[in-house]
Amino acid sequence: MQLLWVLAAFASLATAQDTLESVKAAFESVRIVPDVIPTFDPIFLLQLTYTDVKTGNPLPLAVGETIDVENTRAAPAFSIVDSTGAFDTAFLIALVNPDDPFPGGSTSFLNYLGADQLVGGDGEMVPNSAPVVSYVGPRTTNGELPQRVVALLYSQSDLNALSGPPDTRDDFNVTDFVERNLRGPSALVGGTFFFSRNPSID
Ligand SMILES: *[C@@H]1O[C@H](CO)[C@@H](O)[C@H](O)[C@H]1NC(C)=O
Repeated sequence: MQLLWVLAAFASLATAQDTLESVKAAFESVRIVPDVIPTFDPIFLLQLTYTDVKTGNPLPLAVGETIDVENTRAAPAFSIVDSTGAFDTAFLIALVNPDDPFPGGSTSFLNYLGADQLVGGDGEMVPNSAPVVSYVGPRTTNGELPQRVVALLYSQSDLNALSGPPDTRDDFNVTDFVERNLRGPSALVGGTFFFSRNPSID
């Protein structure tokens, strides 16, 4: 079963310019819907950019790209692609790994949670408060398959809409957490994912 989503990913996720439709389809083909979220209808393209530790060059990730885990030790930058630059809302970003500790697990490890993110002039996300849960890169404890690491973008009703942090990074259910802890109207408005791979294990 887990092999199926990996094959589907490699077969269908060419790195052409992502579109909202291709991102939605990719989330379904690798079963992020329904493993992590029940439905997904993005209205923004979210991009993660890591830094290559050897060259120092930026590594902007297309949806479903595979990246060596050594390049994920430092936090990525988040941005909205092709943004108009005019947003009167704040966002919450969650980065979760549904394949940690077990591939295809029903809950996720929480790698990062940042609230009160504002959008800068080039679409870059600029946090207006300290991380709710600081960034740690994907753990590759099982090592058998690349792990799906999923970034989700939720709109907030206002700054300081998050009532508090989660108790733990483990067994994190992002849908449940947002429903219970983000005050006022909010919606899942964008997302992306990558595969984290540990070359020393593969
Ligand atoms: C996550 O939370 C949502 C909302 O409460 C719930 O519908 C879903 O079943 C939960 N998923 C798991 C794996 O517990």
